[in-house]
Parts: sequence; structure tokens; C-alpha cells
Amino acid sequence: MERKPRRRGLELAAIQPHDRVLEVAVGTGAALIEILKRVDKANVVHGLDLSPRMLEKTRRAVARSGFTNVDLRQGDARSLPFDDNSFDILFNSYMLDLIPLDDMPVVLDEFRRVLKKNGRLVLVNMSKDHEITVWERFYRATPARMVPYIYGGCRPVLMEGAVRAAGFRDVQREFVKNTLSSEVVVARK
Ligand SMILES: C[S@@+](CC[C@H](N)C(=O)[O-])C[C@H]1O[C@@H](n2cnc3c(N)ncnc32)[C@H](O)[C@@H]1O
Repeated sequence: MERKPRRRGLELAAIQPHDRVLEVAVGTGAALIEILKRVDKANVVHGLDLSPRMLEKTRRAVARSGFTNVDLRQGDARSLPFDDNSFDILFNSYMLDLIPLDDMPVVLDEFRRVLKKNGRLVLVNMSKDHEITVWERFYRATPARMVPYIYGGCRPVLMEGAVRAAGFRDVQREFVKNTLSSEVVVARK
């Protein structure tokens, strides 16, 4: 269900071989492998995840694919271990739909900080095309402690306004209709 929107996000990222790319929340490495296919073999792609177990999955996927130009780090999107103005592209899929609302501005500030001027932000998340989905009704009716077990903890988000509020420009949103619909939000620093 996430493959099609993620693929669209990668298309809109329009990664060039020399781009410096950071993927935040690499998960199992599905997008990272696609990013590696698009850059020069000498160009190191940076990937980060909060979870050491997910990083281990990504490490194995990268090794199977034969790429060696990867820097994988454990870290938190709320406090990225990278210098200001470091990246041409920051790709982040299916993480903001998991995290608390209060953390979103903190994360977006961090994304903006590490991007170079004109650098491109690409966000892919579970989303919606009308106010409250059936999915959200279930989510809201579920006791909080059960949510991670039933839905993987995610709910639809609308990131366009938050991305604008964080100071990004040329913000565009594309809705990708699917069994669980998603949005791709692209913006520039
Ligand atoms: C649903 S998975 C998505 C993984 C991948 N981006 C994809 O599209 O398949 C969410 C990932 O976000 C990571 N994550 C959650 N909170 C994070 C944070 N604050 N900083 C970095 N990674 C985080 C989780 O460890 C997990 O690997």
C-alpha cells in the first residue's frame, strides 16, 4: 500500500547523481535502495532511524543490493546529527503520521536546518482527502494504549500547512489515492 506513494515521492524528489541526500526514518530500507540507484557510486547517501532494529534491517537490505556508499546512523529526527545546510534533498516517508503533533514543528525545523538553500524536502505520509476518514473514527475510538498494536500507531496527516509554517517555499501537495491514501508534499528551503 505504501509502495506507490513512496515511488511518487521519489519521482518528485528528482534526485540527480551528485545530490547530497539524507533519508530520515529509513525503516526497512525500501526507499534508501531506490535513492542509492539514483546517485553516483562515489556519492555517500545518509540514512537515519531512531530504531537500531530497523537500521539493522536496512543494513542487510543495502548489503544484499551491493551498495557501499551509505552512512547509516541511529538518531532522532527531532535533533539531527548533521550540520546546517548539508543536503540537497531530504526524504522522509511514513514517519510524521506516527509522531505526536507537538513534535512536528520541531522535526520540520530540523529538516529545514540541515537542508541547503533551495534544497528540496519530500514528505510521504498517510493522508486523507476529506475531513474525517473512517480510519480516523476507529483511531479516535481506540484506547490510546491499543493504537500502536492495531494501526501501527499511524493516522492520516495533512502536512502542507505545517511545512509552509516552518518557512519552506514552493510547497506542493499531491494526493495519492489508495486503499490507505497518502500525500506527497514537496517544498524548497
Ligand atoms: C512506518 S516506518 C516507515 C519507514 C520508511 N520510511 C518507509 O517508508 O517504509 C516509520 C519509521 O520511523 C522511525 N522513526 C519514528 N520516530 C522517529 C524519530 N523521531 N526519528 C527518527 N526515526 C523515527 C521508526 O523507527 C520507523 O523505522
